[in-house]
Amino acid sequence: MLDIKKLYFYYGKAKALEEINLNLKEGALEAVIGPNGAGKSTLLRVISGLEEPDRGKIEFLGERIDDLKPHRIARKGIAHCPERRRLFFDMTVSENLDLGAYTLKDRSKFRELRKFVYEIFPRLKERRKQRAGTLSGGEQQMLAIARSLMSNPKLLLMDEPSLGLAPKIKETIFEAIDTIKKGGTTTLLVEQDAVLAMAVSEYVHVLEEGKIEMRGTKEELEKEPRIKQVYLGI
Ligand SMILES: Nc1ncnc2c1ncn2[C@@H]1O[C@H](COP(=O)(O)OP(=O)(O)O)[C@@H](O)[C@H]1O
Ligand SMILES: [Mg+2]
Repeated sequence: MLDIKKLYFYYGKAKALEEINLNLKEGALEAVIGPNGAGKSTLLRVISGLEEPDRGKIEFLGERIDDLKPHRIARKGIAHCPERRRLFFDMTVSENLDLGAYTLKDRSKFRELRKFVYEIFPRLKERRKQRAGTLSGGEQQMLAIARSLMSNPKLLLMDEPSLGLAPKIKETIFEAIDTIKKGGTTTLLVEQDAVLAMAVSEYVHVLEEGKIEMRGTKEELEKEPRIKQVYLGI
């Protein structure tokens, strides 16, 4: 579904991504883990067209997308749930969800999706008339994910959904990610919290200083001494 080949990206002269190869199949949930500054957000920004790659190729459903503008990429079915959430704080929960569905024409699909996101996050349903700015950090993250789902994406890019959240809320978010996966949405998740990312993902790519240094299934990575030491603390 998503095929990234030999991708390079520089901020000016500083290399942020180096020879990234990544292939994501339809229905998959895979994660990119790595420390702060590894290039995780940059990778998602390049996929969704917010940054233009310097070299390499990105194909989505067999079509090249690396030269398209973000709105064109969004219309092809890629939703980007960015780091630090970027909600419309003065608008209500329900209005934020409406805005997430701006590419969607079909009203019955809209109602179906809204029902689905309220099922995943009952807390949002309870607070649907509340302004987004007054929600807790965890609720804002729920809303950011729910808003991304309202575009009925074929591919969901999620940037650090656990960032800054308490352990209990992190778990709620990751249970929701699991439910979304079961609903069939292909997801590429980017996370510093390797333990959580590895718990939900089928396959994990380890990004360090802009390069994918290792990848494998949870079982494979758990056997690697360096992964244990650096990412799992065991
Ligand atoms: N807008 C920017 N301009 C210049 N350098 C940037 C910019 N954004 C990120 N970087 C640098 O690119 C590298 C990767 O950053 P980022 O993709 O945000 O990493 P991560 O999401 O893994 O923490 C870091 O060295 C960071 O300092
Ligand atoms: Mg980041």
